Amino acid sequence: MSDRANARRIFFALWPDDAVRQQIYDTFNQSPQSKLNGRIMRPNNLHITLHFIGNVSDEKINCLHQQARQLAAESFVLNLDHYGYFYKPRVFWMGCHQVPDNLKKLYKELGILFHGCNYEVENRPYAPHITLMRKLNRPGDLESFSPISWQLNDFVMVESVTCAEGVEYKVLQRYPLLHPL
Ligand code: 2AM
Repeated sequence: MSDRANARRIFFALWPDDAVRQQIYDTFNQSPQSKLNGRIMRPNNLHITLHFIGNVSDEKINCLHQQARQLAAESFVLNLDHYGYFYKPRVFWMGCHQVPDNLKKLYKELGILFHGCNYEVENRPYAPHITLMRKLNRPGDLESFSPISWQLNDFVMVESVTCAEGVEYKVLQRYPLLHPL
């Protein structure tokens, strides 16, 4: 969906805290891929997208916010444990072999709630990943690394803003995940 007037570029994401962000970046810096030609993501921008919304009006942002805050989803741990490469967009990424059921549920239920704002969930299966590099032509061997354990206590609404360095992601809202008793 796209609204021309006053449009802002929005997506929903899992946002690492500073400690996890640092671990991801340090791990990436030890990979052979980090030494190759490509566009490296800035550490402050690292995240996992839940739903990419696109350019929308403030009215629609408010609708998405009202829906997102209704969600009662449970917290979970994500084990970042391998690298991957998407050939077509030439993206080098970090992900998890085992996608937690609570993450699958969060993605699905959020998508259903967003239907109420005329958002259509993508047809392709959800492949959660942290983009580390774009425009990497030949990734070479994907090495293993010590897994990073990431405790998820919330998800966020983010605005993508163009800046001198390229693009900056600004967290607009946080939505807590529930801890089971
Ligand atoms: P990516 O990292 O795999 O490219 C902000 O652009 C975030 O939304 C990125 O994490 C990007 O995923 C994701 N995204 C998903 N679909 C997108 C699209 N059609 N256009 C731009 N970004 C998209």
